Amino acid sequence: MFFKKKTDEKRVIPTHIAVIMDGNGRWAKKRGLPRNAGHAAGSKTFKEIARYCNKIGVKYLTAYAFSTENWKRPESEVQGIMNILRDYLKDSKNYVKENIKLGFIGDRTALDSDIQELMRQAEEDSKNATGLKCYLAINYGGRDEIVHAVKNIINSGVSADEVTDKLISDNLYTDYPDPDLIIRPSGELRLSNYLVWQSAYSEFWFSDVLWPDFSGKDIEKAIDAYNKRERRFGGV
Ligand code: FPP
Repeated sequence: MFFKKKTDEKRVIPTHIAVIMDGNGRWAKKRGLPRNAGHAAGSKTFKEIARYCNKIGVKYLTAYAFSTENWKRPESEVQGIMNILRDYLKDSKNYVKENIKLGFIGDRTALDSDIQELMRQAEEDSKNATGLKCYLAINYGGRDEIVHAVKNIINSGVSADEVTDKLISDNLYTDYPDPDLIIRPSGELRLSNYLVWQSAYSEFWFSDVLWPDFSGKDIEKAIDAYNKRERRFGGV
C-alpha cells in the first residue's frame, strides 16, 4: 500500500535531508535585484532551515551551495557566492552555540586559501556539537566525487575482487548516512549531479517555492509527503 496514513506518534523524521537551493536567481529577478542578492537571501534561508531541522531532530542536513559546474557562471556571480560563503563561515560561531556541527563535501583544494582556512576553523570549532550535522556541498559534483573515490581506491592498491559497494561508499566525501529525503524547490525536476551515488534509494520531494522563500512549513510538507511513502529498498 503506497499512501499509508501514519498517526502523529508514528511520524518519522528523516535522518538525513538533502536540499538543492534552487531559484535564487529567479527570486532576485522578480524583485529587480542582482542575482547575488538572491544568493544572499538563499544563504539566510539556509541558516533558518538548518535551525529548524536541528529543532525537530533531523540528524544530517546537506545543502548544495556550489557545484563543480557553477564555475561556468560569470566571474562576478562566482565571486559573489564565494563572499556569501565567507560571511556564512565567519558566522559559524553562532551555530556552535546552537549545538550544530558544520561540515563540507566537495573538492575544497580549488577554493581560495582563506576560505579553506575558514572551513577548517568552522569544523574545528563545532566538532563537539551533538545536534544537527550540517554539511555544505562546495565545489561538489557527484560524478567528480565518484572519480575521486575510484582514484583513491586504485592508489590504495586493492585488487578488483576487493572492490565492493561499501568500499566505494567509504571513499566518498560523505562519511555519514545516505539521504533519506532530497528536496528540490523552484519547480525544477532534476538531480543536477547532486549526491549521485548516495541517492540510489532516496525519496524525492519537489516544490514550486523559490529557495529564498522556503520555510519550516515547507520542510513540514516534505516530511508529511515522506511519511506517506513506503520505502522498500528493492524488496517487496
Ligand atoms: C541555484 O540557484 C543556486 C546556486 C547555484 C548557488 C546557491 C548558493 C547560495 C544559496 C549561497 C551560498 C550558500 C551558503 C549557505 C553559504 P540559481 O542561481 O540557479 O537560481 P535560478 O535557477 O533561479 O537562476
